[in-house]
This record gives sequence, C-alpha cells and structure tokens, in this order.
Amino acid sequence: MTGPDVDPAGLLTLADYAAAAEARLDRAVWDFIEGGAGQERTLAANLDAFDRVRLAPRVLAGAGRPDLETKILGRTWAAPVGIAPMAYHTMLAPAGEVSTALAAGRAGLPLVVSTFAGRAFEEIAAAASAPLWLQVYCFQDRSVTRRLIERAEGAGFEALVLTVDAPHLGRRLRDLRNDFRLPTGITPANLDGDGFSSPSGHAATEFDATLDWSVIDWLRSISSLPVLVKGVLTAADARRALVAGVDGIVVSNHGGRQLDGAPATLEVLPEIAMAVAGACPVLVDGGVRCGRDVLASLASGADAVLLGRPVLHGLAVDGETGAARVLGIVTEELTEAMALTGTRSVAVAGPELLGGGTAAERPTEAPSVARPPVQAAAERPGPSGPGLWKDDLHASLSDPVLDTMNFLNEVTYRYPEAVSFAPGRPYDGFFETEQIFECLRRYLDHLKQGGATPEQVRAALFQYGPTSGQIRELIADWLRQDEGIEVSPEAIVVTVGAQEAMLLAVRALISGPEDVLLVSSPCYVGITGVASLLDVALTAVEERPDGFSCADLETAILAERARGRRPRAVYVIPDHSNPSGTTMSEPTRRELLDVAARQDILILEDSPYRLVSPGTQLRTLKALDRDRRVVHLGSLSKTLFPGARVGFAIADQPVLDGSGATGLLADELTKIKSMVTVNTSPVSQAVVAGMLLAADGRASVLNTRTAAYYGDAMRVTLEQLATHFPEVERAALGVRWNEPSGGFFLAVNVPFRADNAALERSAEEFGVIWTPMSYFNPQGGGERSLRLSVSYLTHAQIADGIGRLARFIRAQADA
Ligand code: FNR
Repeated sequence: MTGPDVDPAGLLTLADYAAAAEARLDRAVWDFIEGGAGQERTLAANLDAFDRVRLAPRVLAGAGRPDLETKILGRTWAAPVGIAPMAYHTMLAPAGEVSTALAAGRAGLPLVVSTFAGRAFEEIAAAASAPLWLQVYCFQDRSVTRRLIERAEGAGFEALVLTVDAPHLGRRLRDLRNDFRLPTGITPANLDGDGFSSPSGHAATEFDATLDWSVIDWLRSISSLPVLVKGVLTAADARRALVAGVDGIVVSNHGGRQLDGAPATLEVLPEIAMAVAGACPVLVDGGVRCGRDVLASLASGADAVLLGRPVLHGLAVDGETGAARVLGIVTEELTEAMALTGTRSVAVAGPELLGGGTAAERPTEAPSVARPPVQAAAERPGPSGPGLWKDDLHASLSDPVLDTMNFLNEVTYRYPEAVSFAPGRPYDGFFETEQIFECLRRYLDHLKQGGATPEQVRAALFQYGPTSGQIRELIADWLRQDEGIEVSPEAIVVTVGAQEAMLLAVRALISGPEDVLLVSSPCYVGITGVASLLDVALTAVEERPDGFSCADLETAILAERARGRRPRAVYVIPDHSNPSGTTMSEPTRRELLDVAARQDILILEDSPYRLVSPGTQLRTLKALDRDRRVVHLGSLSKTLFPGARVGFAIADQPVLDGSGATGLLADELTKIKSMVTVNTSPVSQAVVAGMLLAADGRASVLNTRTAAYYGDAMRVTLEQLATHFPEVERAALGVRWNEPSGGFFLAVNVPFRADNAALERSAEEFGVIWTPMSYFNPQGGGERSLRLSVSYLTHAQIADGIGRLARFIRAQADA
C-alpha cells in the first residue's frame, strides 16, 4: 500500500473513501479491486441503475425515527446491510478479514467471508460479534469444499452462500495488462494448497464448471447450515432455486466482474422478488454506494443489500476504523433517506417509494417490476385482458402461508392413491346425515317449550340473528359443566369457527404498527394467516424440545419493548397443540398467567382438541384465569362437526372508554363481526344447539366415542412408528417423534429437509403424504421435521401409511 495519508475526518461519503483509497493504493491493486474482467459495461450499469432511481419524498408522515432492524434467517441485523464476500481483505489492511469482522460487529451487521479469505475462519470468528456467513466456491475436488465448510461450521458460521455465477473466474483484462500477481504473503488461509500465482489461475482450473442444481442437495447432505445462492439474475433461475430448496437468494452480477453485458442487479431485482414472493429472503449486491441505494433496493423488492467495494475502500484507508466508518455512513444515510420518505421501518419500505424513475423505467413489455408505481398504473398495460396485477392486491396474497393449504390439497389431489397424514379433519365415520334433522327439530321444540311463538321460531331460523349469537346461554352452560369455566353469556360471541374468533380478537387488540402479537412456534397457520391478512407483526417464541417456555416468552416481550414495540397478546394451543401435539403442564399454565399479568398482555387460548382426547384433561387457562387475562377461542368443529362452522370467543375483559363507560371486549368483537360475517348462520347454530341439548348440554358426553377413537389412532400410529424404527436404528438414522397424549397431531424429526420437494417425492414414489413442519414456523425453523395427522385415517390405513413413511424416510436419508 502506498500513497498519501488522508484525514479521515474529511471523508463524509463513500465516494470520499473511494477517492482516498485510490490515492493510497498501488495502481495494480486498485485495478484488481475495481476492474471487471473487462466487464466495465455491467459495472457501469449497476451504478447507473441506482443513479436513475428517484425516491418520492413524503412530508408530515409522522414516521418518527426509522427502525432499521432487519430479521434475516432468524437473526436480527442492525440494518438491512451485510458485507459482500470479497477475496483477500489482507491486501488492503494487514489484519484483513479480522478487521472487517470487528467493524461489522461494531455496526451489528453480518459479514460474508470469501472462500479466498486471507485470514483463518477461526481468527475471524474470534473477532466477530455479528453473524458470519461463508461464501462457497465449489471445487472439482469436492473434498476441498467439504473441508472448507466443515471448518467454517466448526468456527460458528451461520450460513453458506454458494456463488453460482462463477463456473470459472473471468479473465480480468486490467489484471492481465498490469501483469498483476497477488503480493507475497497474500494467500487463501482456509484452503489446502500452495497459494495462487495469479488471482484467477488456480481457481480457473479447479472450479467445478459442471455444477447443476443438485449441488444444493449435496451441500445439504454435508452441512446443516442454511444455503443461499449468489449470482441469480433471472426470475426463472430464482424459481429453480426455490424448487432446489434454497434458504435465500442473492441477486448479483459479481459486481460486474463476470459476464459482460449482464443486466444491472437493480433492474432484475423486482421480477426476481416477485417470483420469490416472500418464500425466502432476497438480497442484492452490485453498485450500492450510499444509503439511498439501500432504500431503493428495498423498494424494489430486496430484504437487504450486500455492500462490496466500499468496505474494501474503508479498510484501505483506515483498517477496522475505516470499514466501520463506511458502514456507519451507509446506515446514517439510510436513516435519513427513510425519514425523508416517511418510511417508518425496513419492513414497510415498498415500491410506492419509487417516485417514477427506477428500474421501473424499463420498457413496460417487461411488466415485472415489483409493483409499478401507483401513478404509472394507468399507463401500464393490463396483464392481457381484464386481469389484475397480483402486486396490486394485498401483500398477504403473496404470502406463502396463504398457499399452504392449497399446496397440500393439490398434492393430495394429484396422488389420490397416497395415504395422507396431512388433513387435520375429524374422522367422519361417526357422522349420520339424519342427525342434522333431528337436532334441528330438537332445538325448535326447545324454543317452543321456552315459550317462543311460531313466528319467533320461524325467525330464529330464517332471519338475520343477533350478531353475537343466539345460543350463548347453551354454550355458557356447556362450558360451566364440562370445563369449569364460569362466564356470563354476554361475554361470549358465537363465531364462524374459531378462525373468525381469531380474526376478531387480533383485529380488536392490535391497534397500530408498533403492536405485536406473540405466538408459540411452531404454530397453527390460521393465526399466521390472520396476522398476514391484517398486517400484524408476529413474533415467534420457539417451543423448546420440552415444550413452551414462559421465560422465553418474557424475554421476547422485553426485547420487543426495548425496540419500542408494544406486545399485546400471545397465542397458544395449550392442549395437544396443532402442529406439534405438545401439551402445556399445569405449572406452566399458571406461570403463563403470571407472566401475562406481570407484563400486562392477554393470552389467546385456542383449545379445539380437549374433548376429543382420551382421559382427563388439564384445566384450561380460562378456567385458571382469575384476572381476565385470557380470551378463549372455542371451536365446535372437532367436538360436534366442522360443517356447522360454529365457534366462539369468550372475551370477558372490561373495556373502558374516555367517558368512563364500561363494556366488555365481547361487545367490541361483536361490532367487528357485524362487518365481517354479520352473524353466524342461525341454521348452523340451531343444529349445534340441538346436539348439545341431546346430551344435557355437555359436549363431553357426545365425545366419549370420538375421544376413544382418536386416542386409539394415536396409539396405533406410535406403535407402528416404533415397529418400523426399532430403537437402535432410530438413533442411528436420527429419527425421533414425540408421544402426544391426545389430539390429532404428532411431530417426527427426520435426518433430511422435509420440504416441498421431499413431500413430492414421498407422495409420488412412496404414496404417503404429510405436512412439512416448516409451514408452521412463521420465522423459520422446523426444516427437518414433519407433522403427521392421525385423525382422519382408519387403523389399517395408519399401519399401511406408516410403513410407506418408513420406507420413504430410509430412502431419503440414503439419498
Ligand atoms: C468480489 N466478489 C466476490 N464474490 C464472491 O462470491 N466470492 C469472492 O471471493 C469475491 N471476491 C471479490 C473480490 C473483489 C476484490 C471484489 C470487488 C468482488 C463479488 C462481491 O461479492 C460482490 O458481488 C460485488 O463486489 C458487489 O458489488 P459492489 O458493491 O462491489 O459494487
């Protein structure tokens, strides 16, 4: 390194750092960093695409100080910015990647360490306090790559970023002209071998140029780390990557260092983000040179950016301090850009920020912009005919969670011969069609005996009923007898299934973007879906192997408060939960009520499986609730029948208004319901009431047979699993399952990724269907686990199905 000393105080922008670095560095080193392989066109295109972006300023948006925090692959970054993988930081500063890791840690931002790092992974990890990812080049000799990965994993790296745009390194014309050789002592610190005579020579011969998408499976087979691919530039490749099961995509053209004439990354980002549709994080790099460029990337569909050369400039100028300063400048500028555009948080930075000139300036025949700016909507052509742009619809419609059930249904439909452990439906062998008519009759007689006139009886079936429901007394009666829950009928709202009860409760309780709903995770997709529909922020509290932890809940609550958010409620299924089948112990129930009181949050208790489970059940949270902390969400779908679509909410919390008047939360839910379903079908309510009346108001009496049936189904399933996986083999394979005492579901851990691709194979080749547990983890996790539902199958089908599952698991583990 040569050149004049610079005064870092005068360096206020990344451009200042670039100029200072150029002044300090040898020409050949500078060219090595800056130059493409003669691909200046792409290099310039990256910068030019950002230059053309116009962000729309917004005034009086009341956005407050913007929240830059970003969650990627389950980790929180201080801002949506990471450091791109780049070879040999040691060329710029003596401590190389160690300095970069220290700078990244100071900024709370992740560092992607190159295969060609100049410092050992262990040294870098010792210096790091923010996430480290490993960038992977795949060599012809796979054992070299495998050792590299094992070493990084051992050092605590958290993800693999496979660079896919470099089957070989390009000919760098500037380097050839300069006859550039890596300076003495600059060698890859984590690869076996004798160093490199030129920056590309060795790699050009050793890279595996025959790679195809199967490399993702290979990486999975040697490492449990999430895998991202870097170098995707088309929507088609992004879709292919999703099918291959990647955990993230980096839209990159290698900083313009590979294919000349490749498009600018910002140009292709929107169509890639649209193709990915939230299924995994999308990162982008190439040409980010200020905070505004970061915001433009977010607005174009990225979840975060990677910053390349500017970090090297910082290192060259002032080592760790210089790199930290560069990161600081970018985040300060991003904060400013967000404030000026009224962008409250990274999560809400959307395409409406693009004030016209962007990637969106591309010709409209490529209608793949994330969401074209609103003002351009009139000018852009329709999708062809009277169609709509998906991106003009609510964002939840691109949320994969809303497609979960469709996908399962589609698989079930395509493989009708398969045994399906997917649907959480009640067994229908006990339903009798005539029963419906008898129940209806019984309820009408009950009304008559209570003194109703024929006109009133008629209206009770034919008319709009009261919004809060017309069988609340019967439900209150049942709850008192069967559950020991004492509530007045006025505290109950009869809903269209428990799903509507969830929607009403979440809509009422969450009043603004700073309000948070916590969920025990894995969790029922119905609540995730409601949160997505209502734009409600979810925070997952992961279940431990031994179940729900109140300490973890409290930590999550405090962390949200520290971020300026307001935790409002936690959603749990304490009994035989969907999806994992776990049951909360009585001490945990009491502790949860204490935490709720201490932290002033409500508990949304969903408990559909209690009465259809064998044996005596623990008391509900609502029965234990002494200070009205629990909103109980009830369902009659499993206990009576799902076709009725009858559920309810118990919401006995007092609500005060400014004038001092008091009502119940149930009244507020009723108001919302009046604008959603108006009332629950009176015919359905009548049939359900007739059923309860037949059992002296006790649903438990109606369920002795069903509870025994489901208990047997669970027992048979567990026995079959034990038969097919004897203990020794089970341990060797890494197959485990839990043993729920009731309910419909259990979780099986498997030694491979239980994703859609595995499900397809399972259905097609082995004739057995299950649900990937990852569907139920709103913030990641559950990748190697699957849910089995035992409720809908006969014992013979269960035995057959578990046999098929065992064959599939063995085959997949061997693959
Ligand atoms: C790179 N890049 C890179 N990428 C990768 O996957 N593995 C690597 O080892 C390197 N090495 C490398 C060295 C140098 C000197 C540069 C400049 C770049 C590409 C890098 O990760 C990233 O894609 C671009 O640098 C991002 O663009 P900007 O921000 O530099 O414009």
